[in-house]
Amino acid sequence: MSDISFDGRVAVVTGAGGGLGRTYALELASRGAAVVVNDLGGSVEGRGGDSTAAQRVVDEIRAQGGDAVPNFDSVMTPEGGANVVKTAVDSFGKVDVVVNNAGFLRDKSFLKLTWEDLDAIVDVHLKAAFYVSQPAFAVMKSNGYGRFVFTASNATFGNFGQSNYAAAKMGLVGLSNTIAVEGARAGILSNVIMPMAKTRMTEELLGDFADYLAPELVTPMVTYLCSEACTTTHGAFSAAGGRYASVFWGLAQGWYAGPAASPTAEDIQAHLDEITDREGHLVPQSTTDEVVALSKHFTR
Ligand SMILES: NC(=O)c1ccc[n+]([C@@H]2O[C@H](COP(=O)([O-])OP(=O)(O)OC[C@H]3O[C@@H](n4cnc5c(N)ncnc54)[C@H](O)[C@@H]3O)[C@@H](O)[C@H]2O)c1
Repeated sequence: MSDISFDGRVAVVTGAGGGLGRTYALELASRGAAVVVNDLGGSVEGRGGDSTAAQRVVDEIRAQGGDAVPNFDSVMTPEGGANVVKTAVDSFGKVDVVVNNAGFLRDKSFLKLTWEDLDAIVDVHLKAAFYVSQPAFAVMKSNGYGRFVFTASNATFGNFGQSNYAAAKMGLVGLSNTIAVEGARAGILSNVIMPMAKTRMTEELLGDFADYLAPELVTPMVTYLCSEACTTTHGAFSAAGGRYASVFWGLAQGWYAGPAASPTAEDIQAHLDEITDREGHLVPQSTTDEVVALSKHFTR
């Protein structure tokens, strides 16, 4: 197995002024990537901002002999996202890798959720990933090479108090899967990381369990997904505490009512076991895969 190098590659890591993003930026730079360290600064609830976080990580990378520039834009606006990519192109001539990682929390139980907390979370996690990735996709497509990593969360499985966050993070799965489909012919791979790590975002939520979850234990999975060596696309991976596992969105074989049937709610009730049986399920790689699976019933 050969060493994974990022020599000649340009990477953008959003929210890289601390926590997980910092570890990604340091690792990619140590393996030869020129890195744009984006971070707006600010609190864990996304309030305020300062340039010291991104600059500190850039200083750390440079002190280790690596190449990096800071970017202090908020990724929550189209202009900010475009400027992150412009920083990469102006400084290093291109962008090969984007790790969409910036974010914050506004946890509230569903009935207490305000629209302001919904908008902020959708903006920073979901819309920001569009704002950064669309201009990056244009550059990657013209170069015939690219790697995207989108940061989701195990909140997508459902977590008390995180309706806004879980919905935004699940949206990223759809975005990544679509970029994987649209980018395939241009050498662009796209995957999702679902990390668990002790950072300022989680140390209170996770309690003693957090001590098992060093952020550096997420980094190898992200580094692999960002690399030339990566062969997977349209994937999602949980990475936590040294355990790495594929997460997937599957389609059961299901129950087919028959060509001339007019199924009723009672038929659904009667066949629920078949509808929910996961034996022989498919993990579709595109909408077409579901259409093909369905069309086997439609033989005239
Ligand atoms: N730590 C975990 O266990 C965990 C679990 C699931 C998902 N995540 C996700 O991982 C990512 C990193 O989280 P973390 O745990 O390292 O938290 P963190 O708070 O340490 O890092 C997030 C960084 O994003 C930056 N940021 C916030 N808003 C920004 C904006 N508008 N523009 C640019 N930068 C901005 C912050 O300043 C901060 O440095 C987040 O997307 C988070 O939702 C983390």
